[in-house]
Amino acid sequence: MAPTNICCIGAGYVGGPTCSVIALKGGDQVKVTVVDINQKRIAAWNSDELPIYEPGLDEVVQQCRGKNLFFSTDVAGAIKAADLIFVSVNTPTKLYGLGKGSAADVKYIESCARAIAEHSEGPKIVIEKSTVPARTAETLDRILRANCKPGITFEILSNPEFLAEGTAISDLMSPDRVLIGGSTTPEGQKAIQALSAVYEHWVPKDRIITTNTWSSELSKLAANAFLAQRISSINAMSAICEATEADVSEVARAIGKDSRLGAKFLQASVGFGGSCFQKDILNLVYLADSLNLHEVADYWRQVVILNDWQERRFSTRIIKALFNTVSSKKICILGFAFKKNTGDTRESAAIYVCQHLMDEGAQLAIYDPKVKAEQIDLDLKSVSQGQEDRVDRLVTVHSDPYEAMDGAHAVAVLTEWDEFKTYDFAKVYATMPKPAFLFDGRNILDHAALRQMGFEIEAIGKKIH
Ligand SMILES: NC(=O)c1ccc[n+]([C@@H]2O[C@H](COP(=O)([O-])OP(=O)(O)OC[C@H]3O[C@@H](n4cnc5c(N)ncnc54)[C@H](O)[C@@H]3O)[C@@H](O)[C@H]2O)c1
Repeated sequence: MAPTNICCIGAGYVGGPTCSVIALKGGDQVKVTVVDINQKRIAAWNSDELPIYEPGLDEVVQQCRGKNLFFSTDVAGAIKAADLIFVSVNTPTKLYGLGKGSAADVKYIESCARAIAEHSEGPKIVIEKSTVPARTAETLDRILRANCKPGITFEILSNPEFLAEGTAISDLMSPDRVLIGGSTTPEGQKAIQALSAVYEHWVPKDRIITTNTWSSELSKLAANAFLAQRISSINAMSAICEATEADVSEVARAIGKDSRLGAKFLQASVGFGGSCFQKDILNLVYLADSLNLHEVADYWRQVVILNDWQERRFSTRIIKALFNTVSSKKICILGFAFKKNTGDTRESAAIYVCQHLMDEGAQLAIYDPKVKAEQIDLDLKSVSQGQEDRVDRLVTVHSDPYEAMDGAHAVAVLTEWDEFKTYDFAKVYATMPKPAFLFDGRNILDHAALRQMGFEIEAIGKKIH
């Protein structure tokens, strides 16, 4: 039997890893081509230095690339050849016009639909892999039907991705569930079966959930909203803890033992980042507002407001502790990625903490094991409009953490990288002006031991004596 020919439009954090695992697990039953308009990104996927860092990804790509996994810029050719087309392009928050600041920008989805209609010469199953506003499948359907060649049919499915960056490969290898939404027509059900068969190469059937298209689209937004809400909830508690001498880790442990709540996602921090949580909640807020469900919109909006406040609260705490002035003081930032085990900085809390510290004239020495200096420069310039030159004056990016910490007035941990726990902080302490401050934005360090060394410790949701 000929292998199922799969095309994925969008070679990003979702398209690349997802299709690599589909190729690995599908073996000779599938041929997967991942296409992108970004030539540099495709060249990197075809090189020894992949464009994204994910534990385990290199090994998967090495096993399949050139056999049943291909990366290409030939979008038209891949569409023509495919039976199944994943649309895995970015859907960022709109920065202009109607819905600016909250609606998802679906222009890349629309351009994919137009390309699929233009280049298809036979029937296709088109799969929304991107996170999209509810009822986007309807838009896709209308564009495809209005532009396709006569006699060509399309079935549209929703198959949102639930992987988390940093654990993408293990999430994809053994997902909690795979969700497929489609139409209830016989053709729709047949398309669902075809996509399900791709996952059944490695995912047990009882983990493949099928729903109607709209439930599937909304479930992705709902899942991210619930996850982010949990972080904002524990972060709200962290502020109360700091004021009352309760300890947020103890509170998290106590409530996490309740089986109705569970222990995961109760880690207080400087705030959530990443390309999805804020974007998807704002997307939900926009949807609720446009349905005149303003109380619902307000409820979810508060999750983002709390997160922004938590980031600001952390940087304010640094400034206040350093005697209300950080001007010209060296502050070491440990970690710039939005979480550990990824090089992704999109919406990272570090960007906003650094922005606030730059506003106050601090000299920032930044170290992250996986984020490149150019990316940090780009991110900090993007929040310094009109005064980009301050980044050149105030920021140094280091490749050695000890150099970054050397002689700093304060060290701030902004990403929970495991290696930070192994540093020789006694050696660092000796180089720092006193009092030497350590701000743990992730609660990962041994605060008692550091205090013994002489550090002044400030941690999220804790009063440390
Ligand atoms: N990053 C995550 O952890 C994650 C997890 C689950 C879902 N999602 C969702 O998946 C989608 C993709 O996210 P991502 O992080 O992979 O984005 P990304 O920005 O890393 O990748 C998207 C890619 O699509 C390409 N692209 C855009 N328009 C194109 C077109 N017309 N033709 C060909 N290529 C095109 C871009 O060049 C880019 O390389 C988003 O909707 C996101 O919300 C992301």
